[in-house]
Amino acid sequence: MSIKTAIVNGVATIEIARPEKKNALTRVMYQEMADALIAANTDKTVRAVLIQGQPTVFTSGNDIEDFMSSPPRDEDAPVFQFMRALLGCEKPVIAAVNGAAIGIGTTMLLHCDFVYVADDSRLAMPFVGLGLVPEFGSSLIVPSLMGHAKAAEKLLLGDPFTGADAVECGIANGVLAAGEVVAYARRVAERFNALAPSAVRESKRLMRRHSAAQVIETIKVEAEIFGARLRSPEAMEAFQAFFQKRQPDFTKFD
Ligand code: COA
Repeated sequence: MSIKTAIVNGVATIEIARPEKKNALTRVMYQEMADALIAANTDKTVRAVLIQGQPTVFTSGNDIEDFMSSPPRDEDAPVFQFMRALLGCEKPVIAAVNGAAIGIGTTMLLHCDFVYVADDSRLAMPFVGLGLVPEFGSSLIVPSLMGHAKAAEKLLLGDPFTGADAVECGIANGVLAAGEVVAYARRVAERFNALAPSAVRESKRLMRRHSAAQVIETIKVEAEIFGARLRSPEAMEAFQAFFQKRQPDFTKFD
């Protein structure tokens, strides 16, 4: 199993565990994460959800082989089910990030309520470098969090950034020593055991209410363009380059 789940002391943990592929996310893994989020949302014993990776990697993003062999075809695709389940989770979601958080590894953080990152974390949204476009509402949320100038560095150039940068630009709550991230995030999650659960859920809904419709509309527009781009010659060149361990050559495209 590449997704491990457990419920301990009111916290539903979703652990991404495919270290041999740097925790790259496959369709099966998205589906398992979606199912776990939906189950946590309805389980009365669960007060918060904790998403974590492995000690050296949170996730390297979507599995690039999956992108090539079975790109998401419609809104029922597991990646969209995962997105809907994360957006629809009424309980607080806390992310503990160690190592690389790439592509959807970073964009999923935009939909968590608390994000703790290790001092050696590297985050990146390298969609353009893969011939793709931002996804999961990031084309809306990233510029509104940090302004267009900083968003352009991250979304157009795909520049990686540190955990400290993530805190500065509003993506993360705090930076911790690598060995302490998961334990700290768990302690925050466990604080919800002592708080009024309906008040927490209603407050989370109110905090997201103003932007919810706009985020959903953005995800839909992004998904259409993303889907088309996955089949584009630019993306094919980027995916092949990744597996051939070389830089992509975009000079032939106009
Ligand atoms: N999809 C599929 N396979 C992936 C992957 C991904 N997103 N990320 C890593 N892997 C695989 C590599 O192909 C390699 O497989 P191999 O051992 O069969 O050759 C293995 O995982 C280890 O990766 P490697 O690149 O050798 O590790 P690294 O420590 O040098 O670098 C990363 C780690 C995360 C920086 C690097 O793997 C990376 O940039 N991955 C792709 C990130 C990306 O563009 N994601 C998509 C975003 S939309």
